[in-house]
Amino acid sequence: MNPARDSAKPDALLSVRDLSIRFGGLTAIASMTFDANAGEIVSLIGPNGAGKTSAFNAITGYLKPTSGDVRFKDRSLLGLSSNAIAARGVVRTFQKTSVFGGRTVLDNVLMGLHLRSRQTAISILLGLTSVAREERELTDEAIEMLAFVGLVPRAHELASALPYGEQRLLGVAIALAAKPSLLLLDEPVSGLNPAEKASFMGLIRRIRARAITIVLVEHDMRTVMGVSDRVVVLNQGRIICDGAPAEVQRNPEVIKAYLGEGFARAHH
Ligand SMILES: Nc1ncnc2c1ncn2[C@@H]1O[C@H](COP(=O)(O)OP(=O)(O)O)[C@@H](O)[C@H]1O
Ligand SMILES: [Mg+2]
Repeated sequence: MNPARDSAKPDALLSVRDLSIRFGGLTAIASMTFDANAGEIVSLIGPNGAGKTSAFNAITGYLKPTSGDVRFKDRSLLGLSSNAIAARGVVRTFQKTSVFGGRTVLDNVLMGLHLRSRQTAISILLGLTSVAREERELTDEAIEMLAFVGLVPRAHELASALPYGEQRLLGVAIALAAKPSLLLLDEPVSGLNPAEKASFMGLIRRIRARAITIVLVEHDMRTVMGVSDRVVVLNQGRIICDGAPAEVQRNPEVIKAYLGEGFARAHH
């Protein structure tokens, strides 16, 4: 019998079990256990240094956890490369924008498609003609992704020419090109203006409407509380609360962890 498996809820798409991450003497994550169920938008919040990005890194194969398990569709992801994890349908965006500035917007999305169709995408980028039909199909698909995030008019511009907010949208289009069933977003609205944040909330809901489950790391409480079904609160590597947004906002331990960060203020 596998106790980790028994404790997982039957409808959990992602199941993080007893995950710990240590960097030398520093414990970044201590025995973290939480689920994301299919169709949910789950936010992972916590003060700077709480371990949110480390958790994402462990889930997506960028970091080997010290102990514990990460299960997706009831199979462990431990030991798989980030590419293999993406191929299973778990894809993330990065806290810092990570587009290829010297490539066009369209090429960036084609490189996202490469996670699914590596040979073809590389051939396209090298300009080989033997794959013309598949090239058209992939280009159509990339354009469709750009349409979804509203970047079609920018398709042939260099990614580096986009304003910051649009680079973040491009990051989402690249991730979606890999056809995830679980998308992890690391602080996607940081640095965006209020109008861009509001529109990004709409985008998150439209992604979910495509049957993509979302785990969101975000500091912007208006976005988190507005869009999440459930909020998991980390403080110094430990989960201190896991519940509906309203429940989390009135939890005394959460309020204490956020004192000085304007947590209570953010809702007024
Ligand atoms: N690669 C690393 N090596 C050493 N310490 C790290 C590394 N990555 C993160 N940390 C430390 O782990 C803790 C959690 O960091 P992080 O996961 O980035 O937090 P958050 O995303 O919640 O701000 C911090 O104390 C950070 O300095
Ligand atoms: Mg972080």
